[in-house]
Amino acid sequence: MIKEDFTLGMKTERMTDIGLAFKQTGAILAAIELELFTRISNGAGTVDEIAAAMGIDAEKADRLLTACKSMDLVREIDGRHENFSDVQRYLVKDSRTYFGDYLNYMAHRDYGAWEHIAKNLTAVSDTNEEDDRTYVSLMQNPKKARDFTEAGYEASIGLGHKLAKEFDFSQFNRWLDLGGGSGCYAIAACERQQGFTVTVLDQPNVIAVAEEFIAEHGLEGRINTTPGDFFGAAYPTGYDLATYITPLQGYMPDKVIAALAKAKDSLEPGGTILVVDYMLKDDKTGPLDPAFVNLFGIRDGRYLGRVNTGAEWCAFMAEAGYVDAEYRWFTPHQLGLITARKLN
Ligand SMILES: C[S@@+](CC[C@H](N)C(=O)[O-])C[C@H]1O[C@@H](n2cnc3c(N)ncnc32)[C@H](O)[C@@H]1O
Repeated sequence: MIKEDFTLGMKTERMTDIGLAFKQTGAILAAIELELFTRISNGAGTVDEIAAAMGIDAEKADRLLTACKSMDLVREIDGRHENFSDVQRYLVKDSRTYFGDYLNYMAHRDYGAWEHIAKNLTAVSDTNEEDDRTYVSLMQNPKKARDFTEAGYEASIGLGHKLAKEFDFSQFNRWLDLGGGSGCYAIAACERQQGFTVTVLDQPNVIAVAEEFIAEHGLEGRINTTPGDFFGAAYPTGYDLATYITPLQGYMPDKVIAALAKAKDSLEPGGTILVVDYMLKDDKTGPLDPAFVNLFGIRDGRYLGRVNTGAEWCAFMAEAGYVDAEYRWFTPHQLGLITARKLN
């Protein structure tokens, strides 16, 4: 029998914090929209200075600041406010690491839908057909594909640099990045490491945006592109590295295994496959963010994707015909990094 922990559950604070967490979402989004953290970074320190910079009454600014201080986003020292260091790094506009547009995009896209989780779970799916909210249908619309891909670049370029610092791409000659989106992973790797070329494969409307990012970085000589659907298109061949960096969360295991098996055709014998994606602990006790992505992958009773454990990822690799599958955490609370090899 599982023993109850009597330090928990005797008060309602914990349930309140979890049940009403939407208030935190609303407050941080308002602060981002009013550029509170940027104004503090630019030198506004007192309540009056911050209020003037935002163009609102001091009393109103004070209430927003009080909420931000309660959430440990901002602190006050001798009457002047400053951002906590993570806020300073990620929520100040025009910084290379600015993350605010991504938070804004994701929150506004998904906020309303979180009211319907119970309905999503109990609804009986009317069809086994693919849902029209999949990546492939979303990317049919040039405007939506551009918005998604530009927000994706901002959200993932930091991830690309982290990957390029930790994964030795220079041991490979030719890399095929499947579902490579804006090209952010290829761009970061080419900026940090020498000796290889990359092909980014993605939907045509995404590739149009990726080409702009590649050109902005002057990397046309090392990164080329191929438009296509990674289930339908014939993959180019002759690569020693193939990657799926975050697209496979949108698919169920049968499709994931099919995609992994298809990548094998593009690899030379001995070639490596690398997957970076949301991952759950093997005992499925978390982390929180992957658990939420997994829950949100069911809409109106339909499965729009799945988050897998590390052990499941390795089993998929084996089923797709790879050997030596291994996994580890790439970002401790979110993404796993899985590698395997094509034998022959
Ligand atoms: C989570 S996003 C990764 C985007 C990346 N973070 C970026 O900055 O662009 C997944 C990418 O996989 C692509 N994708 C998903 N399914 C695909 C498919 N069947 N064929 C080709 N690309 C696909 C999407 O178009 C999208 O660009």
